[in-house]
Amino acid sequence: MARVTESLCFWMTMLSVLVVSLVLAQNGHRFVHYDFRNADLYIDGTASTEDGRLRLTDSSKRSTGHAFHQKPIHFRNISSSFSTEFVFAIIPKQRDSNGQGMAFVVSPTIDLRYGASGSYLGIFNKTSDNQTKNHILAVEFDTNPSSEAININSIVSVKSENASYYDDTTRRNITLLLASKQRIHVWIDYDAEKRLLVVTIAPLNTAKPSSPLLSLPIDLSKIFKEQMYFGFSGSTGVIRSHQYILGWALAIGEKAQSLDISKILDLPQPAPSSPALTKAQVITISIISVLVFLMLPSGILYHYFRKKRKGELIGHMPNGNLSEYLLKGDGLSWLQRLHIIKGVASALCYLHEGWGQVVLHRDIKASNVLLDANLNAKLGDFGLARFHDRGMALETRRVIGTTGYMAPELMIMGVATTWTDVYAFGALMLEVICGRKPVDPNRPKHLKYILPIWCFCSMILSDLYFVFQMLLRDY
Ligand SMILES: *[C@@H]1O[C@H](CO)[C@@H](O)[C@H](O)[C@H]1NC(C)=O
Ligand SMILES: *[C@@H]1O[C@H](CO)[C@@H](O)[C@H](O)[C@H]1NC(C)=O
Ligand SMILES: *[C@@H]1O[C@H](CO)[C@@H](O)[C@H](O)[C@H]1NC(C)=O
Ligand SMILES: *[C@@H]1O[C@H](CO)[C@@H](O)[C@H](O)[C@H]1NC(C)=O
Ligand SMILES: *[C@@H]1O[C@H](CO)[C@@H](O)[C@H](O)[C@H]1NC(C)=O
Repeated sequence: MARVTESLCFWMTMLSVLVVSLVLAQNGHRFVHYDFRNADLYIDGTASTEDGRLRLTDSSKRSTGHAFHQKPIHFRNISSSFSTEFVFAIIPKQRDSNGQGMAFVVSPTIDLRYGASGSYLGIFNKTSDNQTKNHILAVEFDTNPSSEAININSIVSVKSENASYYDDTTRRNITLLLASKQRIHVWIDYDAEKRLLVVTIAPLNTAKPSSPLLSLPIDLSKIFKEQMYFGFSGSTGVIRSHQYILGWALAIGEKAQSLDISKILDLPQPAPSSPALTKAQVITISIISVLVFLMLPSGILYHYFRKKRKGELIGHMPNGNLSEYLLKGDGLSWLQRLHIIKGVASALCYLHEGWGQVVLHRDIKASNVLLDANLNAKLGDFGLARFHDRGMALETRRVIGTTGYMAPELMIMGVATTWTDVYAFGALMLEVICGRKPVDPNRPKHLKYILPIWCFCSMILSDLYFVFQMLLRDY
């Protein structure tokens, strides 16, 4: 009887050990996910599980996304063999581009936010790359070229192959484009006894090929730490892609449960062609609307006060602007005319030579010259003025200035220099001397517009008498 009790006790103990280990195995050592919303994942960066699919990257440039199984796997006293199966898809976001790749990652840390975007795939960065203290295994799915690689502690692969799968019926390797919106089935198995890591890929709906794409003899116990996290990392660079994981099974120390293909979600439908606004666009449009809303009244106020200020300024300048003063024809003496011209010339000289940078006024004309009580000339209205470096021509796309004061090269090529200011000053001098506007509809028909050209032509035609007659018209 004692023997029976003894053996019963023995079997009861064995059974409870078995049950406990099974429960342990359920808790983290094996799982299958088709809907990632309740998958107990740690996600960061651009990763999301919103619609049940695990999406690593979105349309943002130079971003990273990570997703790890929250519970670490302890490799201390169990064989570090593992087996995993998943389905992924890479959808390039730009035409003529394959986008960036992604990777299956086994890492001692769950936080890979230091991983750089672009070709570092969000796993390593410039400083951490190729360091043995990383303890990271990455199985990379590269898009440029479409290839499959095993990486240890570095973004430089230990072994890589062009992506293809072995077709058991035709007994040939068939090339596979990874970034092709195609759902691709991956099997990764590590046998701790044989110390062999094997990666096999095939399109979804194709049975597991009998021959793997990559197999690498390696002792992962030398690389792994006691506690490791399993997950995925993806990144975008200047070129972008959406990367999806659509089903994932993992088991430690045994074979992973085969994925049920019927439960794998489809890829999301592309957005309808009538362009749905992205979040960024909506924000931009809102900001612009708010700005316009705020700027309209302030623009009106600005205009109002500017006019008012100009009035005030002219208030301090009892003789108003030179253009009006010349028109009034109050009979300026030659000395007064010279005084005005000297005032404008010294102002222009100060703008062009008196600063580290050159200040181009770009709108020198009589109506921008203000006269105080003593007929001292002041240059006003710097609305078009520009700073520019000495010796450089100012490139302007719009021809800016006032007709009659614009140098021919400014009108033709739109390039403003100190010389074009001086040309305008020359036109102004003629205007002060003649008391006539550079553009004057009352002049002879074919020469009615531009005073300097008119004077020049008159001179060429030896019609100096006519010019002098005009010059001295008022005296
Ligand atoms: C695990 O193995 C270590 C030696 O490698 C041993 O000291 C420890 O007791 C073992 N732990 C368990 C829980 O078996
Ligand atoms: C690179 O990653 C390491 C962690 O792996 C981090 O400590 C370091 O700050 C990162 N460097 C940069 C430049 O981000
Ligand atoms: C990685 O580091 C090892 C030494 O630590 C060096 O021999 C090797 O050339 C490095 N590889 C790359 C790609 O930089
Ligand atoms: C991958 O294919 C390219 C041509 O497409 C070839 O140049 C390269 O050698 C191949 N790589 C391997 C590892 O077979
Ligand atoms: C198929 O590809 C694998 C891995 O690249 C290679 O080892 C094998 O020889 C290839 N088989 C054929 C029939 O080309």
